[in-house]
Amino acid sequence: MTIPYPTKQTATAFSEVSPPSGASRPRLSFLGTGYLGATYAICFAELGYEVLGFDVDEAKIAKLAGGQVPFHEPGLDELLRANLGAGRLRFTTSYQEVAEFADVHFICVGTPQRGDGMGADLTYVETSVTNLARHLTRRALIVGKSTVPVGTAEWVEQLVAKHTDPELAIEVAWSPEFLQEGFAVEDVLRPNRIVVGVKTDWANGMLYAAHKGVFDLAATEDREVPLVVTDFATAELVKVAANAFLATKISFINAMAEVCEVAGGDVTQLAKAIGYDPRIGNRFLQAGVGFGGGCLPKDIRAFQARAQELGAGEALRFLHEVDLVNLRRRGRVMQLAAELLGRRAGPAGPDLSGTRIAVLGAAFKPNSDDVRDSPSLAIAATLAKAGADVRVYDPQGMENARAAQPGLTYAATMTEAVTDAELVCVLTEWAEFRNADPQAMGDLVAQRLVIDGRNCLDASLWARAGWQYRGMGRPHPEA
Ligand code: UGA
Repeated sequence: MTIPYPTKQTATAFSEVSPPSGASRPRLSFLGTGYLGATYAICFAELGYEVLGFDVDEAKIAKLAGGQVPFHEPGLDELLRANLGAGRLRFTTSYQEVAEFADVHFICVGTPQRGDGMGADLTYVETSVTNLARHLTRRALIVGKSTVPVGTAEWVEQLVAKHTDPELAIEVAWSPEFLQEGFAVEDVLRPNRIVVGVKTDWANGMLYAAHKGVFDLAATEDREVPLVVTDFATAELVKVAANAFLATKISFINAMAEVCEVAGGDVTQLAKAIGYDPRIGNRFLQAGVGFGGGCLPKDIRAFQARAQELGAGEALRFLHEVDLVNLRRRGRVMQLAAELLGRRAGPAGPDLSGTRIAVLGAAFKPNSDDVRDSPSLAIAATLAKAGADVRVYDPQGMENARAAQPGLTYAATMTEAVTDAELVCVLTEWAEFRNADPQAMGDLVAQRLVIDGRNCLDASLWARAGWQYRGMGRPHPEA
């Protein structure tokens, strides 16, 4: 089935779909106000929509309603306060209020890895859809945005059919999102594509009306936002395929780093050289301690689990290797730490007792306070387990890090973390670390040993300042 999505020429015909609430443009709700839902709610209010954000977490909703974003995302606080002030944005913990208010309901709840395997846990999707459906009293469109195993949209459609009056003709659509933490506002307001999985012209028209603000903004800036209109299964797969590709790209360059380490090559030069080929491209070729976060690691595992269920497990077997390469990079830091500190590794790994190590970085990437599956924090914990006295510092991720790894010691500043350290490990490439002065830091530490887990420091500058520098997949620089 092909449903022609409105182009600039045909947009008027589609925008004539009237929102069931009687409002001139659809009213939007976003269920789940984590990184995804809160960012979307705030940005769509900024685009001029009337928006209601929902979460079961009362503390989170109180914070948002009070003008405070519960996580660190550049630019989002200002937009939240502006749109609360303008009266376009509200927050609630009531399903009934959501059902009464909106025409288009976006499901943005988390789909974490299951405790008992690699698959995705769909409990929050089920709860939010069921509770919303039970409260609906007029026609509406429910749009899945959460990252889910292929087949979930059909299942959501069945859930909706079970819990709503058929006369209401509630419909379901799927529209995956591609925002990156740290760039989330820009990614939502100016997406590089919009993908929608729809079954009917009505759903298509409502989704268009719900995204018209994005297309209008693009038009005023003389940009186009490419659209892919497709079926449910493809829309669901696009998301996991994109994340699987990105994870593969990172593990590819990290595998090259492993080879460079034994062959004496420099992976940063190698990445630059292959990246000049436009078929390869130079982005996401940064070798280091590997990928983490709430998305790539769990998504590649859930994708494999689902493919296995569907009988296509072999097709994604390489993703297992992608995962293994990624996790091996964490071990490489342990190996380098033992080497630099002159500790021999025993059968249980190196004994680092009596050493003092500064770990700079806890967030899974810079400009974020997210520590979910963070390589930096995992390495800090392993160093501590090996007996080292570890001091962790991160510009934004301290609170989350403390909650995730309460057993570690945290320093209030970079200076405090490195003072008297025998080894400094830079594991998240925050600007504060990249721009640190190796001379000044050299005066604080007990010995000038540094592991650059993100290849983000100027190796020769640090070597000239008397540091023994170790990067990932790079030869040691001459002092
Ligand atoms: C990722 C995708 O990039 C988004 O498109 C997607 O929408 C999102 O997941 C999601 O599924 O919600 P995000 O988790 O914010 O976004 O983080 P990325 O920027 O992709 O970085 C992931 C990890 O890879 C980080 O730990 C980062 O340090 C690491 N990375 C990234 C590298 O090690 N090397 C690189 O070259 C790039």
